[in-house]
Amino acid sequence: MHIEDRPIKKILGKDALIGIIGMGYVGLPLVLRFCEENFRVLGFDIDSKKVATLQRGRSYLKSILSSRISRFIRNGHLDVTDDFSRLDEPDCILICVPTPLTEKMEPDLQYIENTTQVIHQNLRKGQLIVLESTTYPGTTEELLLPKLEATGLKVGKDFFLAFSPEREDPGNKRFMTRQIPKVVAGVTPACQKVVTALYGQIIQKVVPVSSPRVAELNKLLENIYRGVNIALVNELKMLTDRMGIDIWEVIEAASTKPFGFSPFYPGPGMGGHCIPIDPYYLSWKAREYDFTTRFIFLAGEINVHVPYYVVAKVQDALNARGKSMKGARILILGVAYKKDVDDARESPALAIMNLLQKKGAVILYHDPYIPSLPSFRKYSFNLKSSPLTEKVLRRVDAAVVVTDHSIDYERIVKLVPLIIDTRNVTKGLIRYKKKIVKA
Ligand SMILES: NC(=O)c1ccc[n+]([C@@H]2O[C@H](COP(=O)([O-])OP(=O)(O)OC[C@H]3O[C@@H](n4cnc5c(N)ncnc54)[C@H](O)[C@@H]3O)[C@@H](O)[C@H]2O)c1
Repeated sequence: MHIEDRPIKKILGKDALIGIIGMGYVGLPLVLRFCEENFRVLGFDIDSKKVATLQRGRSYLKSILSSRISRFIRNGHLDVTDDFSRLDEPDCILICVPTPLTEKMEPDLQYIENTTQVIHQNLRKGQLIVLESTTYPGTTEELLLPKLEATGLKVGKDFFLAFSPEREDPGNKRFMTRQIPKVVAGVTPACQKVVTALYGQIIQKVVPVSSPRVAELNKLLENIYRGVNIALVNELKMLTDRMGIDIWEVIEAASTKPFGFSPFYPGPGMGGHCIPIDPYYLSWKAREYDFTTRFIFLAGEINVHVPYYVVAKVQDALNARGKSMKGARILILGVAYKKDVDDARESPALAIMNLLQKKGAVILYHDPYIPSLPSFRKYSFNLKSSPLTEKVLRRVDAAVVVTDHSIDYERIVKLVPLIIDTRNVTKGLIRYKKKIVKA
């Protein structure tokens, strides 16, 4: 009998209780996936409001219907708590807490550290601990492992430890959690076997790799790859604008190449809480090796500049119509960081609104997914989403498409005097081309 046989047997028999820490965009879909496969799940969050909402069977995420949650609360498969002394109950604990940056753009590990501390206080023999949060290579073995072994329990013998990065893509209707292959890495061969067995229960394809550091860097590579490619097309769009060439048409043409080219699209800047943040986790770690990650910094620099470019385009377009920015009424269309999601964290819309306001513009916004703007890490606006009535649209001086939510753009273009389009949503609306400025 091997050390890992007992936990694997529990997992395969669906007798294992699954604990998930952090009921956010990553944790909650995982909770439901395990419940759907008939596991019992105990969710943990420090936010007692979220805990109470979930206990009532309600969702606070647009992408998740309440009915998907209430079903499992009612049948007793799901329980949620803010009592972390219950961490000794689950057989498997998945950590899905935030990994943001500090003001100085360095990894803010307080959430992982606090979670590790409470797991340490409650760790018991036989438990599997998996870190899912995006982080630098080395976190699992340098930060979690020593802390957990300080209990006197030994990894791969008394408890199991692994890293498995999340690949959640909120709003993506083409790929469900189950269909997205999951990379896993255990600290020891026994840990690898247990973690592979666990995710094999809920994910169609599990991809084991040789160490947690490989899995940690794999996640960062995926995000850096996006960040760098988005920066590339953003830089090219600023050039093609001067050259009088439509970058969107160029990308469309290049995309007909059946090999060696993957399209990325320009936009109003970089958004979300992954791509603008995660790459700096690697830059920070690279310093330990006397290494500067130049691509990451260059991509960041270009993407951070794009909102300034967009604002300059708004100013030029107003100027061309004999209007000044000061006092202009500007409608921002979409403040979420991407299409059809309800999340505005790190959205370039916030930087654009802030810059426009500083230049004296009067800002209003419309976002069907974000009825009012909460406070953010850097910005705070006291605004509610304006309805797209004819009166509102006719009274603005310009509208700026920041997020390409699925709304009727033709009607908007018809009614506003000027539209600045960062997402190519006005493609095909040739009739109104005098009103349209691509940015
Ligand atoms: N959202 C995505 O699309 C996505 C995709 C891949 C990876 N990730 C990564 O997954 C991790 C979580 O991201 P998210 O988007 O789910 O964040 P989130 O902010 O939506 O959710 C995190 C949750 O953790 C809770 N929390 C904070 N500290 C806690 C603690 N000490 N104990 C228990 N709960 C705590 C918060 O209250 C919140 O509910 C991050 O590392 C992120 O980079 C996110």
